[in-house]
Amino acid sequence: MFIRSVYTFILVAIISVVIGIPLERSPDLAINSGISLIKRDSYPNCTNQSSPFYQSSYCATSTIVTITCASAGNSNLSFILRQDCLPNENCIDYVDQQNVSRGMCADFKNIRKWNNKDSGSRTCSENEAYDTGDGKDLILGLTTYATTNNPIRVQMLEAFMSGNSLGRLFNQYNYTKIIKNYDGNSTIKYCFTAGTTKKITALAAAFG
Ligand SMILES: *[C@@H]1O[C@H](CO)[C@@H](O)[C@H](O)[C@H]1NC(C)=O
Ligand SMILES: *[C@@H]1O[C@H](CO)[C@@H](O)[C@H](O)[C@H]1NC(C)=O
Ligand SMILES: *[C@@H]1O[C@H](CO)[C@@H](O)[C@H](O)[C@H]1NC(C)=O
Ligand SMILES: *[C@@H]1O[C@H](CO)[C@@H](O)[C@H](O)[C@H]1NC(C)=O
Ligand SMILES: *[C@@H]1O[C@H](CO)[C@@H](O)[C@H](O)[C@H]1NC(C)=O
Ligand SMILES: *[C@@H]1O[C@H](CO)[C@@H](O)[C@H](O)[C@H]1NC(C)=O
Repeated sequence: MFIRSVYTFILVAIISVVIGIPLERSPDLAINSGISLIKRDSYPNCTNQSSPFYQSSYCATSTIVTITCASAGNSNLSFILRQDCLPNENCIDYVDQQNVSRGMCADFKNIRKWNNKDSGSRTCSENEAYDTGDGKDLILGLTTYATTNNPIRVQMLEAFMSGNSLGRLFNQYNYTKIIKNYDGNSTIKYCFTAGTTKKITALAAAFG
């Protein structure tokens, strides 16, 4: 694990030098699936003073987010750090509108959570609207985890809006769908087919 982190760090540093990753973006908010609140979750923080700029992140486990932070002196250099989510949070991956990978710790209150029943059948979250008001862009994020809390690929991932499929993904452990101008009352549900009899837990949230 340590060797892999170092290797990733070196790799990212090299890639960053070549490509040049843009600096900090304003972090997204996770949107409450409940009645009225838009709830603020903890953002991944670049705590290293010499590398203070958030670039991207992904979920290492359901409770740990791995963050890439850019150096203050040279934005082409990156520093990787791991951060625990708060005790009332889990990590969900998605890719934002700028195509940046984000693993975000979101409050349990904002997360829909469910398990597979068996290998072959599709299981889904609740089918509820997000109370965002009219005309906001929503980003749906879904990540599947094994009982070890590590992300695990599943046979199929899919989301639905008002009963219509938003597209399927095969043999992945995360799913992102961007909904432009969400109307604030179309129902959203998330589904997956495990492709294994092992217990898989899916976590989904909407970000805006
Ligand atoms: C990041 O920093 C903000 C403000 O300082 C804080 O509210 C938040 O909880 C921190 N997030 C994590 C994951 O530590
Ligand atoms: C902070 O980041 C720099 C690289 O930008 C690294 O050399 C240093 O070890 C880091 N400090 C800590 C406390 O992790
Ligand atoms: C970062 O990379 C870009 C593109 O390769 C280059 O133009 C720029 O000078 C680099 N910046 C620094 C501070 O090295
Ligand atoms: C997003 O990034 C991935 C790799 O990071 C790339 O394969 C893909 O083509 C990009 N998509 C868009 C729309 O830029
Ligand atoms: C989603 O999963 C793919 C592997 O299938 C991985 O490369 C990518 O980094 C993941 N996205 C995020 C945001 O973690
Ligand atoms: C919800 O649906 C109604 C009727 O279809 C529509 O008038 C309204 O603009 C929609 N959006 C919100 C946020 O209520």
